[in-house]
Amino acid sequence: MRRLQDRVAIITGGASGIGRATALRFAAEGAAVVIADIDRDGGQACAEEISAAGGKARFIETDVGRESDLQRMVDGALREYGGLDILYNNAFRNTPGAAADITDEDWDGTLAVTLRAVWKGSKLAIPHLLKSETGVILITGSVHSIVGFAGSAAYQAAKGGVLSLTRALSLELAPKVRVAAILPGAVKTPGLRAVPADEHAEFLRQVPLGRNGQPEEIASVAAFLASDDASYITGAGIVVDGGYTTH
Ligand SMILES: NC(=O)c1ccc[n+]([C@@H]2O[C@H](COP(=O)([O-])OP(=O)(O)OC[C@H]3O[C@@H](n4cnc5c(N)ncnc54)[C@H](O)[C@@H]3O)[C@@H](O)[C@H]2O)c1
Repeated sequence: MRRLQDRVAIITGGASGIGRATALRFAAEGAAVVIADIDRDGGQACAEEISAAGGKARFIETDVGRESDLQRMVDGALREYGGLDILYNNAFRNTPGAAADITDEDWDGTLAVTLRAVWKGSKLAIPHLLKSETGVILITGSVHSIVGFAGSAAYQAAKGGVLSLTRALSLELAPKVRVAAILPGAVKTPGLRAVPADEHAEFLRQVPLGRNGQPEEIASVAAFLASDDASYITGAGIVVDGGYTTH
């Protein structure tokens, strides 16, 4: 029996990187997957790849910063697949900038996509997750959720916020719905391009495993957390960082 057989999952930011790898993995584990992303080409390509391999997937164009899009995303999952078991809040925006420099617009835009949308998407999904026997909310945080970095104050604040929100949601939804955050270190995705090369090299020097993670190494943790194998985990932030935060 595949671990997510017949479960219905929404993955935001599912067109690329960690979200894409997780969509492929969830589908291989038997889930029907809604890929919610602003990237129409990437999202459709991911859904087609899953369908071609015999899995179930639909792309729903979604800007998680817009409540009407989030509603359409949830409604679409219900309409296509008749329920909702897993919401994976994974989309993000990272506008670099120190706290002293960042503009109001960049601060608000980063928080809207990286933190507020996690709350709002969860809020819209909760009534449906409560009807599931196996409801799970997953959230992609970051090592930024637990240690400090200079130069990306809004992203840092948002990623700290999502770990706190994970804890709040886990208490509010227990015992019906489990909630967990995944806190990646450096993972080789298109999203990593935003990190300046010298900062990335310095980060990697401090990674005991000595390399970037691969998106599939986050997807495997997401599949575990979404499944009954993680039935006693809620409220946790699972660090997947090659050992970076052990220093
Ligand atoms: N790659 C890393 O090193 C790393 C490290 C720590 C945390 N993370 C986190 O992992 C998650 C995924 O990042 P990734 O590295 O796979 O990035 P990525 O850029 O490869 O993928 C992000 C996806 O989110 C989508 N997206 C952006 N804004 C959106 C919006 N408003 N609405 C819907 N979709 C939107 C993009 O189109 C893209 O498909 C993010 O939450 C990120 O903060 C990544």
